[in-house]
Amino acid sequence: MKTYGLLNGPNLDRLGKREPEVYGHTTLTQLEQLVGDEAKRLKVRLECLQSNREGALIDQISKWADSGLAGMVINAGAFTHTSIALRDAIAGSEIPCVEVHLSNVHKREEFRHRSYMAAACVGVICGLGVEGYLAALRFLVARK
Ligand code: DQA
Repeated sequence: MKTYGLLNGPNLDRLGKREPEVYGHTTLTQLEQLVGDEAKRLKVRLECLQSNREGALIDQISKWADSGLAGMVINAGAFTHTSIALRDAIAGSEIPCVEVHLSNVHKREEFRHRSYMAAACVGVICGLGVEGYLAALRFLVARK
C-alpha cells in the first residue's frame, strides 16, 4: 500500500478559529480526518503533520523523501511566500507534490501572489477550501 503525506504549515493549527470568513469553519483535526477518509477510499495510507516551524516541515519532507513517499499535499501557509528553503526541500525530495491553499491567494494581498514553492510542485490548487486537499490527493493517487 502506497503512503502519501499531508503537510500543513504555520497557523493552520488554528483552522476553524482563525479568520473563518477566509479559511472556513473546518478545524485541522476535521480536515485531517476528511483527507484520511479519502485516503481510505483510495486504498492508500496517509501520514499528516502540521507545524508552525519551517525546520520541522523541512525535516519531515526529508524523512518522507528517504522513505519513498508516493506523493505529498502541502499547504505551507505564509512560508509559501517566503521560504526558498522549503522550495529546495520539495525540489530535492523528488516527491510529486501539490501545493494547496484554502483561500484564493490571487484575490488577496499582492504578497500572497508569489509562491516560491509552486515551480517545484506538479500543480497548485487554491480557493477551493477543504475540497482542494481532497482533489490534490485524488490527483496524486490517480497519477501513479
Ligand atoms: C493559506 C494562504 C496563505 O497566504 C496564508 O498565509 C495562510 C493560509 C491558505 O490556505 O489560503 O496561512 O495558505
